[in-house]
Amino acid sequence: MMTSLSELPQRKASGPKLAVLTAYDYPTARMLDDAGVDLLLVGDSLGMVVLGLPDTTGVTMDMMVHHTSAVCRGVTRAPVIADLPFASYLTPEMAVANAQRLMDCGAACVKLEGGVSMLPQIRAIIDAGIPFVGHIGMLPQSVREEGGYKKKGKTAESIDHLIADAQAIDQAGAVAMVLESIVPAVATQITSLVKASTIGIGAGTGTDGQVLVTPDLLGSFPWFRPPFAKARADVAGETLRAVREYMAEVQS
Ligand code: KIV
Repeated sequence: MMTSLSELPQRKASGPKLAVLTAYDYPTARMLDDAGVDLLLVGDSLGMVVLGLPDTTGVTMDMMVHHTSAVCRGVTRAPVIADLPFASYLTPEMAVANAQRLMDCGAACVKLEGGVSMLPQIRAIIDAGIPFVGHIGMLPQSVREEGGYKKKGKTAESIDHLIADAQAIDQAGAVAMVLESIVPAVATQITSLVKASTIGIGAGTGTDGQVLVTPDLLGSFPWFRPPFAKARADVAGETLRAVREYMAEVQS
């Protein structure tokens, strides 16, 4: 059970692996914190699983500030990672100003998508004293340019790019990096090459930890769940049951 980002190197060296979950609101954050989850991520998956948008590109800084503040009010222990949303880090100056807005909500660190191509922004954030988490592999904010969600690390060229991105982020001083939808052997290789903790999603079990979108874990977003995400509860089913029971009682 983590209380500070400073514990990450020790956890990478000796375990246990990091258990990370997303949160977007106060009650969920409070329950996950009480349960002992290591890190909470206010992901821009918010757009899809909470706000009903088709992808993450419609998420704004104001939305992230609103939800990061709510999550941070619910947490007394777990460090909170806050996502910089689409088009909020177009320049290094913009990246630092928006990262600072999320830190002012109570986040412990910020995350953005991209590696070598985002180095000026990543360096500016770290130089401003803001702890940074990278995100490489399949990048949901690029879904429109890429024409879909595609697994990374299937070709020699793709593997070279991923390793270059991971090493660039690591050398810049990231505390951790998310490896999303990467061929497992490549994610394992990256994990052994970098000092930062790797947090995988759809990238096999060889990373330093795992992250899941909490509605996928709880079965509270029943309309879509990625194949690698195992639902361990049926909150949607239980909600329907309770609502129908209430309606039957009121209407009888
Ligand atoms: O937005 C998010 O929830 C994420 C995870 C999928 C890693 O970035």
